[in-house]
Amino acid sequence: MIAVYQDLHDYISVLEKRGLLKRIKAEVDPVLEITEITDRVSKRGGPALLFEKVKGSSCPVLINAFGSFERMALSLGVDNLDQIGARISELLQLQDIPGGGLLDKLKVLPRLAEIASWAPKLVKNAPCQEVVAYDKDASLDDLPILQCWPEDGGRYITLPLVITKDPLTGARNMGMYRLQVFDERTTGMHWHIHKNGAENFRSCRKLGRRMEVAVSLGGDPATIYAATAPLPHGLDEMLFAGFLRKQAVEMVKCKTVDLEAPAYAEIVLEGYVDLDEQRREGPFGDHTGYYSLTDLYPVFHINCITRRRDAVYPATVVGKPPMEDCFLGKATERIFLPLLKMFMPEIVDINLPLEGVFHNCAVISIKKRYAGQAKKVMCAVWGMGQMMFTKMIIIVDEHVDVQDMSEVWWRVYNNTDPKRDFMTVDGPLEVLDHSSSLPAYGSKVGIDATKKWPEEGHQREWPAEIAMSEEIKELVTSRWREYGFTDEDR
Ligand SMILES: Cc1cc2nc3c(=O)[nH]c(=O)nc-3n(C[C@H](O)[C@H](O)[C@H](O)COP(=O)(O)O)c2cc1C
Repeated sequence: MIAVYQDLHDYISVLEKRGLLKRIKAEVDPVLEITEITDRVSKRGGPALLFEKVKGSSCPVLINAFGSFERMALSLGVDNLDQIGARISELLQLQDIPGGGLLDKLKVLPRLAEIASWAPKLVKNAPCQEVVAYDKDASLDDLPILQCWPEDGGRYITLPLVITKDPLTGARNMGMYRLQVFDERTTGMHWHIHKNGAENFRSCRKLGRRMEVAVSLGGDPATIYAATAPLPHGLDEMLFAGFLRKQAVEMVKCKTVDLEAPAYAEIVLEGYVDLDEQRREGPFGDHTGYYSLTDLYPVFHINCITRRRDAVYPATVVGKPPMEDCFLGKATERIFLPLLKMFMPEIVDINLPLEGVFHNCAVISIKKRYAGQAKKVMCAVWGMGQMMFTKMIIIVDEHVDVQDMSEVWWRVYNNTDPKRDFMTVDGPLEVLDHSSSLPAYGSKVGIDATKKWPEEGHQREWPAEIAMSEEIKELVTSRWREYGFTDEDR
């Protein structure tokens, strides 16, 4: 079992020991040059990169730290992402047995104590506050902030953990929303309208209360991942991070806002978002592989920057997949599968293909037990949190390997009668979708590629799939060399 990382420095040393990180000592420009290097490395399945000498800043840049299945699992302290899904399944079964005796109840107690130990803990002194700069002394100019792509509207902070509170309940939210640098103390705040940060902002506007914001750059890797996880509004991402790392995230009170930040963050930006101010944000080379269009977004004003003396600046570059963010998405696919199964027990497996950049495609295998069940699953998926954005849902039977897209497409091409099996609906779409006629609203398609039943209107015989008999397979295997083939040819 991999130890819990206290911070990014811990994680960097583990990556390095395992040969999964490359230090780059040559001076590099954060404007475009880092992207080109990272893109080439990540497309080849290469390591995490630590740029030690970045033009214009004393801070090294860590990038591609999550950019493979191996590093994604390592960052969350497991050998395989399904191990986290299995822990979630176990938790979901953790309920008081109705009518159970005292002994049954006592069995649950240690697990409840374990859950309580994951809750974030407040500490007084924190490495992220070793250096504190207020007002005019606080400047983003000291940080190695990247301009990723040539047509980008400027420099962007690409891996920020944006912390806000629901002004009505005081519940914390942490989401990853990019920040476009407008000047040394002002950035854009790119929370999409459907996200929890935007919901908190709308509540602040209703109450006429200025919105305080803290942005953590860095923290332990589980905390960074947690900011990207599609948790429901009101569920604290810090508690979720504590669950992932099996240890509470230590938090410290911010210096100028009524919020807490991860004590082991590298850098924390403190400030506020004005209720009535908006500025044009973008364009930005996004994870769709296209530039996301410019639009009006709120503005983040920074009045304090705290940091570690030896701060490392964490970043990512997104673009045409596969890139680092795909693996954050794959972690979500594996971790949240048990939750999907809780609401839809017929689900066997799910694949969010990398080319679909999280929200454009979901392939789902189901145990079909009644007519129309594939369509029922489509509707349920469109009704679940951020799964509502899924532009194409493909449903296949339980024995189909959803991770094998060649197998999936074969089923789609052969098993569907479009008029009967393609269902289109209108509804909300991801803000980044550029293909719909209207922003964030358009159509989605569900494709039922399961075997069709007479009860679904298919009155003809459904043919059997071609497969060789076991007897002949065994015979041919045993005589393989006799035919003049080698074992590798088999
Ligand atoms: C690298 C990266 C960048 C992201 N940038 C944004 C962004 O700019 N705006 C946004 O709304 N979501 C962005 N997301 C997706 C959100 O982080 C994700 O939907 C998360 O669940 C939002 O948290 P929330 O549900 O608490 O709002 C990004 C995800 C990743 C991995």
